[in-house]
Amino acid sequence: MGRAEKVVLAYSGGVDTTVCIPYLMNEFGVKEVITLAADLGQGDELEPIRKKALASGAKESLVADATEDFVVNYAFPSIKANALYENRYPLSTALARPLIAKLLVDAAEKYGADAVAHGCTGKGNDQVRFDVSIAALNPNLKVLAPAREWGMSRPEAMAYGEKYGLSFPVKKSSPYSIDRNLLGRSIEAGPLEDPWNEPLEEIYVMTKGIAETPDKPDYVEIGFEKGIPVALNGEALGPVELITQLNDVVGKHGFGRLDMLENRLVGIKSREIYETPALLVLITAHRDLESLTLTADVTHYKRGIEQTYSEMDYNGLWYSPLKQALDAFID
Ligand code: ARG
Repeated sequence: MGRAEKVVLAYSGGVDTTVCIPYLMNEFGVKEVITLAADLGQGDELEPIRKKALASGAKESLVADATEDFVVNYAFPSIKANALYENRYPLSTALARPLIAKLLVDAAEKYGADAVAHGCTGKGNDQVRFDVSIAALNPNLKVLAPAREWGMSRPEAMAYGEKYGLSFPVKKSSPYSIDRNLLGRSIEAGPLEDPWNEPLEEIYVMTKGIAETPDKPDYVEIGFEKGIPVALNGEALGPVELITQLNDVVGKHGFGRLDMLENRLVGIKSREIYETPALLVLITAHRDLESLTLTADVTHYKRGIEQTYSEMDYNGLWYSPLKQALDAFID
């Protein structure tokens, strides 16, 4: 007996999630793998990724355009909460996980799958965020995490895939682990694991180094309505367009970089570099706005809420009752 009959797998098109397809079928006895790739504004072309899943043995390959949902229902509430994990990280990666979990659960229900799967390893926060969010949304679904169990190195995983007819493009191998979406980039591992190593300029994509920034400032006036950003310099913009434009102008001036040693949920300290230009500016502006509009006691009380909120978000408790109650207070 296999571990599940029909599985919806969160799919990025990378080596690990691609190897998950034959692995689920051959080692876990899964009969049918449906992949789901989410567009969260990471800038990847989704059509080749969709085809790659089919060529790798997936029965069905889904693509979800979720960028607007991401900004409106995950980023904006978090901005209203001024959520900064350990007072610094605006949770650009963390916020994507409950949304991907929701897309997986929706697809599993639609296609009658009895399990969902993700390609996270056992070292990071993301495995917990997926497991906990999926369980909160549909406790009847099994969650499979092949890469947490298989204990294969990257070359071993590739060799495993090749056994089942997969081929992997020869890419210039990067020592870094990178996660990206519309809200930001997270860069970790490789030389960054030594905190004495200054990050090389080449790791940055969304922000310019100070030597390359314009001499003259740009002014951006941000319009808020009920705590939500709606306009730049007097021009009303949709949520995705607003974040995109703000990322460009802010990143061009070299703002939005973080270099921190972060305490992971799983008990590991990890060196993290982030680029999150728009998100950091919006939280700063939103806090300034609150200093004008909130009473002293509400402002002070909200600081504690913000800290709890950011920890819950970081720890994958987005769909928990307490988090919903905090949202109600903030609204
Ligand atoms: N530490 C960050 C978080 O937990 C990012 C994790 C994913 N980043 C990566 N480079 N793989 O939200």
